[in-house]
Amino acid sequence: MTTTILSTSFQAGSSERGATALDRYGPVTRPDLAYTPEVAAETAPIYEKVKDFIPEIEWPLLAPLIHAINKLKRERNAVVLAHNYMTPEIFHGVADIVGDSLQLAKEAARTDAEVIVQCGVHFMAETAKILSPEKTVLIPDSKAGCSLAESITAEDVRGLREKHPGVPIVTYVNTSAAVKAECDICCTSSNAVQVVESLNAPRVLLIPDQYLAANVARQTDVEVLTWAGACEVHERFTAEELREYREIEPAVKIIAHPECPPEVVDEADFSGSTAGMIDWVKTNLPEKVMLVTECSMADNIASETPGVDYVRPCNLCPHMKRITLSKILDALVEMKEEVTVDPEVADRARQAVERMIHLKS
Ligand code: 13P
Ligand code: SF4
Repeated sequence: MTTTILSTSFQAGSSERGATALDRYGPVTRPDLAYTPEVAAETAPIYEKVKDFIPEIEWPLLAPLIHAINKLKRERNAVVLAHNYMTPEIFHGVADIVGDSLQLAKEAARTDAEVIVQCGVHFMAETAKILSPEKTVLIPDSKAGCSLAESITAEDVRGLREKHPGVPIVTYVNTSAAVKAECDICCTSSNAVQVVESLNAPRVLLIPDQYLAANVARQTDVEVLTWAGACEVHERFTAEELREYREIEPAVKIIAHPECPPEVVDEADFSGSTAGMIDWVKTNLPEKVMLVTECSMADNIASETPGVDYVRPCNLCPHMKRITLSKILDALVEMKEEVTVDPEVADRARQAVERMIHLKS
């Protein structure tokens, strides 16, 4: 089936923010960040996993942060959820749960911890808050946005409803809570086809990623209307560069995220969410592989896939890269930055997210 792209407008997603988490949880002493023999010994197994990406000279600066964060997590009854695009020292050093957007959303709903530190971008932290309104959700840098989430507003979605009465609206999870609240159901890159088909409608709106929508449309008979949003990281890959790499390295396996344009996905041996890509590499253990996605992915799985050679290119997500160990430590010491969502908006957005989570797979 074909996709039709509708108009777009750009405006940052919004959410209310409170500043009282520190009052509620009380102060803690800021940890000493000395690289002591105890810190060196406790973090040695972590360094083993990241040593190919972090020079030895930098470890005495990172290890005390990792040690302090892991200690503070216990004091604060906090859990660190980290997206697959976090840097290796976060992914292997302080994350309790790692995953793609769907896995993180499910884990946010499931955890018993009182505090969630969301190491990812703002829409992910909002999704955690929507699913766990009673928990305190912190994001180490609330400026960690997303070009997809910023491409559409709640008002835009209301406009689409008016223009396409009766057409169900599926929103990619990479959107603000206010946008989710206007939609019928959420999807992620790992379940988008299933979600679209679950609606039993001849035509659906799948917003805001035009490329995800185009990639989904090729796998279903449902007509897919979309929006002109795009991921600034994945839209930069071109089919031509992948063909050039294949020419140089004919044995290379290419796997691409479905936020890439369809002609890029056409050049790939497999396309899937970040978790799907990781599973594919772990199952197939190719000699050479190119992950057509954000750069940290390859670094994070390299230690678990010995013998696999990761071939570039990759692109950095500047928003994901705002999250650092220092900011995670500050988040736990100062209980900032707290993510809040208007309860009425959260109730409506939750319906869209839960409808997706409860779909039978
Ligand atoms: P995943 O759901 O595949 O982890 O994707 C999230 C994302 O932001 C990719 O750019
Ligand atoms: Fe958004 Fe793209 Fe960054 Fe993912 S990689 S957070 S979709 S800008």
